[in-house]
Amino acid sequence: MSDRKPLIAGNWKMNLDHQQGIALVQKLAWTLKDVNHDFDLVEVAVFPPFTDLRSVQTLIDADKLPLVLGAQDLSKYDSGAYTGEISGAFLKKLDVRYVLVGHSERRQHHHEDDELIQAKVASAFKHNLIPVICVGETLEELESEGAAAVPIRQLSKALAEHKEIGEFVVAYEPVWAIGTGKVATSEQAADVAKKLRETIRELVSEEVAAATRILYGGSVKSANVAGFLVSDEVDGVLVGGASLDVEEFTGICRFQKHVTL
Ligand code: PGA
Repeated sequence: MSDRKPLIAGNWKMNLDHQQGIALVQKLAWTLKDVNHDFDLVEVAVFPPFTDLRSVQTLIDADKLPLVLGAQDLSKYDSGAYTGEISGAFLKKLDVRYVLVGHSERRQHHHEDDELIQAKVASAFKHNLIPVICVGETLEELESEGAAAVPIRQLSKALAEHKEIGEFVVAYEPVWAIGTGKVATSEQAADVAKKLRETIRELVSEEVAAATRILYGGSVKSANVAGFLVSDEVDGVLVGGASLDVEEFTGICRFQKHVTL
């Protein structure tokens, strides 16, 4: 067992308005309380759309919920004439702790490249947010280069040229496994996670590599989560679809209770 605290991260994507978001967080908090979830052992974070953040933050704050808040993206800029962009400074003001950077849907639909992702990581560090740096290969890349090459390249670029590197999390999400019901095998996920940790060791330091959490993502469900987390290399999961269903997501948070063969 590593002493890294597992992180279960629920990426709602563009789902749930602020009222629906509040209802889900309330239900999630009750359900996890009912099953005596130990938040000191397994951290649970939700990543709602921007328009929900203030409402969810107010609820977490008022009811002293042990849930942590994440955002799905941030601007590389601090402020100014950038219509539609959201500054890391604004997220920090809302007690946001984590921010996804370089999710494959941003890379694909919004043409975010490695350079922009590197700038967004810098912005997250600047505003004391913890970037969850998302990396992963497409099916074509898997066939031509194997599973690890593209994630390593993406992570190396995201971590390059920073004056100072703050805390960060890495999420390995094979693009072909996101929202498709196809999952990597737990061995594949562990193997890529191991190679990503080696990359951090080479680029940053032994200490940072040992402390950094590497998550798996892509069609994670309560029925398959335990398999991914058997390996010491995988320190949590980034969950899309299943994070919108409280029972499912609770089951994922309780992965340690699942029997693994
Ligand atoms: P999924 O999405 O769990 O619906 O496959 C994962 C993600 O995109 O973060």
